[in-house]
Amino acid sequence: MTGMQVPFLDLHAHHQPLMADLADAFRQVIEASAFAGGPFVARFETEFAAFCRTRHALGVGSGTDALWLSLLALGVGQGDEVITVPNSFMATAEAISVCGARPVFVDIDEHTYTMDPVQLAAAITARTRAIIPVHLFGQMADMDAILAIARQHGNPVVEDACQAHGAEYKGRRAGGLGVAGCFSFYPGKNLGAFGEAGAVTTDEPELWTKIQSLRDHGQARKYFHSVVGWNARMDGIQAVVLSLKLRRLADANAARRAHAQLYDQLLADEPRIIRPVAAAHNLHAYHIYAVRVQDRDRVLERMAARGVNCAIHYPVPIHLQQAYAFLGLQPGSFPVAERCARELLSLPMYPELRPEQIEFVAQALKQCLHQ
Ligand SMILES: Cc1ncc(COP(=O)(O)O)c(C=O)c1O
Repeated sequence: MTGMQVPFLDLHAHHQPLMADLADAFRQVIEASAFAGGPFVARFETEFAAFCRTRHALGVGSGTDALWLSLLALGVGQGDEVITVPNSFMATAEAISVCGARPVFVDIDEHTYTMDPVQLAAAITARTRAIIPVHLFGQMADMDAILAIARQHGNPVVEDACQAHGAEYKGRRAGGLGVAGCFSFYPGKNLGAFGEAGAVTTDEPELWTKIQSLRDHGQARKYFHSVVGWNARMDGIQAVVLSLKLRRLADANAARRAHAQLYDQLLADEPRIIRPVAAAHNLHAYHIYAVRVQDRDRVLERMAARGVNCAIHYPVPIHLQQAYAFLGLQPGSFPVAERCARELLSLPMYPELRPEQIEFVAQALKQCLHQ
């Protein structure tokens, strides 16, 4: 098995079988000149809401837009606090800041890497206006516990489901448990567009109406603006790509789960590798399969030298990013998230991975630990 190259992600392999259907879909968009919003976006919204089992879905420009518009529609603004976790992509906190509110971080559970409900309860203040659990790597946060605490304090929960398309918690799909679910369709996601795109899912008619207006310059009717909004619409081209790929998402997620199971089996005999833990009530979507190892950066380099491309999600937790130095949070503030930032290593994961590639990656990882 020497000489094998395993990329971290292979989008080409994913798109190759779809080429003819994609060309046909693009032709339809061109024929209809339906480029910004329009009927193809509306069709995808219906399909995606059905997939998430919510009443509504709204196509927007990106996952970042989805988070920001949800918070805006909930009235989050200056002087408010929004609670989230420090081990996420920067966008989760950015959306809070761009609303004028302050991100308040709580540490994560060391097994699932999602929000620790006990710490959440302790962080709620009179200024708390919303809570954003992040369904990291494709695994949903402990939503019953989080929703119970939120309900007790009257706070809405916005799910950051940007990595969790099709993930489930006690049989309920990501995006359908909070007041809003925010999705990213960045190309590398489990459901990826051909550029930037995102969606908000919700059961709430009021939130749906507000976000519809906010994403389209605050206009209910063309050139009549009732509030100050923004341009955060989804493109027609992205919508047809997403509609096509949505039909294959359940199978693609099942393939990811099978790959995760094989990684688990192959790595089980190496005590120096901490494998991902899927909580018993969760259906994991394995957007990312991340293990924890000591001396992670060196292991990453050694893996690359053996032809295996790995990644790090994320090297610096958000509270220690330079952009958030003004919060005054020091190293040691969130020990679990900080340890994860040092130790997590994301292994290649995409539906088209072949068993022999997974075997090669697992063997390479074990060898790298002994090197
Ligand atoms: C957890 C999380 N939140 C938010 C985002 C932001 O999504 P986007 O890149 O589509 O703006 C991403 C994706 O990059 C993400 O992984």
